[in-house]
Amino acid sequence: MDEQTDNAQNSLWGGRYAEGPGAIMREINASIGFDRKMWRQDIRGSLAHAAMLAHVGIISAEDEAAIRKGLAAIAAEIEAGRFAWSEALEDIHMNIEARLTERIGEAGKRLHTGRSRNDQVALDVRLWVRDAIDGLDAQIADVMRALADRAAEHAATVMPGFTHLQPAQPTTLGHHLLAYVEMLSRDRGRLADCRRRLNESPLGAAALCGTGFPIDRHMTAKALGFDGPTRNSLDSVASRDFAAEFLFACAMCATHLSRFAEEIVIWTNPYFGFVKLSDAFTTGSSIMPQKRNPDAAELVRGKTGRMLGNLTAMLTVLKGLALTYFKDMQEDKEPVFDTAENLALCLAATAGMVRDMRPQAERLEAAAGAGFSTATDLADWLVRELKMPFRDAHHVTGKLVAMAEGRGVDLAGLTLAEMQSVEPRIGDGVFGVLTVAASVASRTSFGGTAPANVARMAAEWRERLA
Ligand code: ARG
Repeated sequence: MDEQTDNAQNSLWGGRYAEGPGAIMREINASIGFDRKMWRQDIRGSLAHAAMLAHVGIISAEDEAAIRKGLAAIAAEIEAGRFAWSEALEDIHMNIEARLTERIGEAGKRLHTGRSRNDQVALDVRLWVRDAIDGLDAQIADVMRALADRAAEHAATVMPGFTHLQPAQPTTLGHHLLAYVEMLSRDRGRLADCRRRLNESPLGAAALCGTGFPIDRHMTAKALGFDGPTRNSLDSVASRDFAAEFLFACAMCATHLSRFAEEIVIWTNPYFGFVKLSDAFTTGSSIMPQKRNPDAAELVRGKTGRMLGNLTAMLTVLKGLALTYFKDMQEDKEPVFDTAENLALCLAATAGMVRDMRPQAERLEAAAGAGFSTATDLADWLVRELKMPFRDAHHVTGKLVAMAEGRGVDLAGLTLAEMQSVEPRIGDGVFGVLTVAASVASRTSFGGTAPANVARMAAEWRERLA
């Protein structure tokens, strides 16, 4: 029995390939199942190409008008869900072109003059990524706006600042939220940078070497909103670094959202109790009635995994390819679509959670003072008031922390006599720096935690994002 017949008769999976090699080839070769997402970009590119062909006299004005009308009708068909997608026609480019010829005849067959699917697909993916960047940029700005609003509201709401997830120094919730605004702002910068670099039109590179037809690549580039045409036809059809850059910028943004999601998971844990989320962004348990699980945050964190995978997939597809086009590059699309769609969802969920969360100010304040979090303030006081070298001050403070821990009190709970037993020159002025409020208020260095600074930064961001 040959392998094919054997496969066809395998009751577990043979049925799917029962039609033999032709069916297998069609299935592995076809991209219409996913690249139909680019139909708008494909039509936009064809309209610009046809207008240029007519302008330089390669096709007649009548043909161009017929193409324009035909493509508009096809767009309407797709929009209405009435378009019959064909796997036999492989991809979005051939599906639309075949339908065009079906509708308008001869003129439809002239559209592909001076271009190839190689420059066409390079164009469509660029246009799709550019559109996706514009949508994501607006969404990131929205998350930043939500964070800046909450930061303004909580510029003076104290909370513990952590390193190693151990209490380190008191900070404010506003300061903490603005840290994410800074990260997301850099993500927007990376996307904008990617957009700037990708904004060159590959259309007219044709199969790989350009064309002998007197096409005007500057004209199509301009019509499609590009800064100009790409400068090397081989590079134009062979390169997808813009897609890899896009996937990195998105993966980085998702990683930032994932870190925030992790905080939400920690903060909503009842042992922390720092914030509460409403039913809008939590789910109950089918068996444990008390449960309120931060599923949206968990999924933002979880989905970040696939976005890192998509970046790896893209780079791996490219790394073994000589110039120029190989069918491997058809694998560029699904990672791009998947990342763009999931990042959009994660951004929407994060904006929702930021607006939904209810900070628990008393819990945050109690936690801010726990764990001898003002020990650094005590050491700094010894340096400032007693002119002690910082290393000695650190040592004295360590002894005082150990003493307080032994007595079961916090630093402010030690008596002056107890403190003086460690360092006789300590005066009662020291108690002024041991409170959480004094600690945060003192950190006035630029970019520091002081509520006045945080309020100013939040106001600045809100104004920039308005
Ligand atoms: N569907 C193809 C892709 O996504 C279009 C380009 C096909 N070009 C070719 N020479 N077979 O890459």
